[in-house]
Amino acid sequence: MPDRIKIFDTTLRDGEQSAGVSFSAEEKLQIAKLLERMQVDTIEAGFAAASPADFDAVARIAKEVRGTSIATLCRAVPNDVDQGWAAIQDAEEPRLHVFLSSSDIHIAHQLRKDRETVLEQAREMVARAKGYVDNVEFSPMDATRSDRDFLKLMLKECVEAGATTINIPDTVGYAIPQEFEAFVREIMEDVPGMDRVTVSVHCHNDLGLSSANSLAAVQAGARQVECTINGLGERAGNASLEEVVMAIRTREDFLHAETNVDPHFLVPASHMVQDFAGMHVQPNKAIVGLNAFRHQSGIHQDGVSKLRETYEIMDPEEVGWKDGSQFVLSKLSGRAGFRSRLDDLGYQLADEEFNRAFLRFQELADRKNTVDDRDLEAIVSDNIGQAVEAWRIESVHVTTGTGATPTASIKLRSPEGEFHEAANTGTGPVDAVYKTIRGIVGTQDVLTEYAVTAITEGIDAQGEVSIRIEIDGVTYMGRASDQDILVASARAYVNAVNRYLSGTVGAKASVVQRRAT
Ligand code: KIV
Ligand code: ZN
Repeated sequence: MPDRIKIFDTTLRDGEQSAGVSFSAEEKLQIAKLLERMQVDTIEAGFAAASPADFDAVARIAKEVRGTSIATLCRAVPNDVDQGWAAIQDAEEPRLHVFLSSSDIHIAHQLRKDRETVLEQAREMVARAKGYVDNVEFSPMDATRSDRDFLKLMLKECVEAGATTINIPDTVGYAIPQEFEAFVREIMEDVPGMDRVTVSVHCHNDLGLSSANSLAAVQAGARQVECTINGLGERAGNASLEEVVMAIRTREDFLHAETNVDPHFLVPASHMVQDFAGMHVQPNKAIVGLNAFRHQSGIHQDGVSKLRETYEIMDPEEVGWKDGSQFVLSKLSGRAGFRSRLDDLGYQLADEEFNRAFLRFQELADRKNTVDDRDLEAIVSDNIGQAVEAWRIESVHVTTGTGATPTASIKLRSPEGEFHEAANTGTGPVDAVYKTIRGIVGTQDVLTEYAVTAITEGIDAQGEVSIRIEIDGVTYMGRASDQDILVASARAYVNAVNRYLSGTVGAKASVVQRRAT
């Protein structure tokens, strides 16, 4: 019998710590619902004490998502544990996840404490969490750079205080697979009581080894892996859920392990998270990248055409790749067909969102003969992103061309329902559009990122524009799609401004960046 490995998804917590990424509450709920359909074991829904918006999003997921355990992260301080419990108490299976650094470098330079104090703090906060719920996870942050004896002592105390899962984070992605396997084995052997808890790992990808390290830990006996869709996460990210799940599935013969995850949702989840995060995976990303099942060389094409398995170790359909051309919708498609296709793509929309998305679909289908999956994903993700709509675009006109000064004239509707019109010139058409909108809404922002991609092929393809603007050191993402990229650019900008104005979505601590000087 293969051993069962629990999958702990932290896309909504560590994943949201990716620089420049922030999900709205609606987006978080959609992702959580899809993770639940995928049958992950635990969803870390956020860091409840971080802000009122984080608290609300965690509480909403705890109330609305059934069938999986819902966790929230807490620093080892009373307020975080109390707030954490308040946020997740309605979950079917709530879990409090308490963390505290165990390495000397963190204890001395970040916490500015000593080992004794930290030890007591960890023990007390695990016990406090245990007072609320049986299901308590403890993570010694920076475990892989910690003094071994001190780490073991801390874990022993936390097991005694009632932790039911002990997570071993490679916080800075420092470990090497063979070394990490031995490390996890040593902890499991030496720490009293480890046989009574679930041993988990949480690997970062600074050296590109996060999935390899997670699998090495599975070989050592870890029975929970923490990971994120598309490998999102702090700095270079976390172990990618799709890689861990498919490696375990594909190499069950070697790893003697299995997960409960339904792989058919991997590609839909990847697309949903790419759209919501405004962060696209590279084409050669394992499993979910555009090229993951594309064969270029004649020899390979010849082999695959004779027998798929000659060059494919996984079945693309099993991980959720579908031939989009089999499922195109047109203007003759009704609401039922539209809803059923969205369901296949992993979206479960509330009535209001569904109606908005259906209207957009009809508009697009009027202009475009066939609307395929990527079009639908773009339409829906635009609409969920627009859930909190303050400013709205009424019209966009741009004149540009050789020898002409790009000029935009734009009409917006304000949150109060008043119409505002303005015109301005720019160094290029997008600059003209942004200057004009900025003049109307009055934000003092800097455009830090602008990217346009074609969502589908062909002359009538939709273009997706994703942008990031910075206001007072905080980054806000905006995205939109349209057949006209200047209209998409205008809508993406208004989307980012709306996220800023809503005050709850998009607000994040500013990113600490180190630039070459
Ligand atoms: O990387 C890390 O150490 C973490 C912990 C909070 C688990 O994210
Ligand atoms: Zn982490």
